[in-house]
Amino acid sequence: MSLLTDKKILLGISGSIAAYKVADWVRALRREGCQVTVVMTESACRLITPLTMAALSGNPVHTSMFAAEAPEKIPHINLAREHDLLVIAPASAQTIARLAHGLADNLLATIALAFSGPVLVCPAMNSVMFQHPATQANLATLRSYGHMVLDPDCGKMACGEEGPGRLTDWEDARQAILSALAPQDLAGEQVLITAGPTRESFDPVRFLSNPSTGKMGYAMAATARQRGAMVTLISGPTALVPPPGVRYIQVTSAAEMQAQVMGCLAANTIIVKAAAVSDYRPAEPQPHKVKKGQAALSLPLVANPDILKELGDRRRTSANFPLLIGFAAESRDHLAEGNRKLKEKNLDLIVINDISGTETGFAADTNRVTLLDRNGGQEDMPLLSKEETAHRIWDAVIRLRTDNR
Ligand code: CTP
Repeated sequence: MSLLTDKKILLGISGSIAAYKVADWVRALRREGCQVTVVMTESACRLITPLTMAALSGNPVHTSMFAAEAPEKIPHINLAREHDLLVIAPASAQTIARLAHGLADNLLATIALAFSGPVLVCPAMNSVMFQHPATQANLATLRSYGHMVLDPDCGKMACGEEGPGRLTDWEDARQAILSALAPQDLAGEQVLITAGPTRESFDPVRFLSNPSTGKMGYAMAATARQRGAMVTLISGPTALVPPPGVRYIQVTSAAEMQAQVMGCLAANTIIVKAAAVSDYRPAEPQPHKVKKGQAALSLPLVANPDILKELGDRRRTSANFPLLIGFAAESRDHLAEGNRKLKEKNLDLIVINDISGTETGFAADTNRVTLLDRNGGQEDMPLLSKEETAHRIWDAVIRLRTDNR
């Protein structure tokens, strides 16, 4: 099950050459269980056929204010009423101008006026048209109406020009759609999240690390942003792209992570330590590559600082300390170990991860976690995607936050 399952999305396509790209968006939305209804302007119909969009959406496509079939249904009012979100993609300069000025001279513009839910506008056009003061003023007007505007990407366009104006890619659009549909119950919170592994260098070409991919921490960052928080993500080396709208700080070693966490601490209201920090580092990193030839080699290690414990210790003596959420990676005695870490590190909440299964822990897209909180509460979650797990963790954090007040 996806967070988008059963959501009803009205997709308005206007006359930009990027219209063909949203055919893939429709497929992606349907794969996640959304119901998609497409409305197309006359210009959009010249660029991509309503037949294509009907086949991909599995629904009739609406193009006219005065449909020959079922006129008694008053299409613009019914379509506006029946959907959770209106996405206008691609939004051409003309459609943006129509919406900004409240015109109602085609079906899409009329629906936009009649729609009382969230509206996401995804501009796509030639970069000179996009940067024109008239378009920028119209977009500012749309923002003032409360519409979300997703800035276009920069790059080479169909017209040969380069600059801002390319339709945003699906991953960014998906995050914006999730934000538009999510409760904004983390608005006002400043969240600091650590994610990924750390690397502790032994010589210039070798390091000590662990298999963490950062997926759980990045899911915590993406979902916090969707729910309205300002997010700082401090990440060890991963192959992941940071979620849009998140302040991103890259680190390599535990010492670097510690310095960044302590440096950012003051501004935050919630700290989530999802990183898999190396507990040890080589005592004396070698300046040059260690050559082979020895039958055995022993590597003296020293303990790294426990960043979370340091935060928990500070919390004992300072008032108004951020809520402190830790993770525990366990392969046995999960509950006992989780409880020990909750108390020793002085946390509000600990998320116990089972790292022994293939569907849970490092690198998996799913997770099955148990939450223990400072009040003795325990919640065993089912197997869920890491994104859904992250939402459930935020639900628990918000409950704790409410208890605090
Ligand atoms: N952590 C940390 N600094 C470390 C080690 C761990 O901040 N040097 C944090 C992790 O980010 C996580 C929590 O402490 O939130 C628990 O990490 P985990 O690896 O499960 O446990 P450890 O405390 O390292 O203990 P052990 O390895 O003995 O299980």
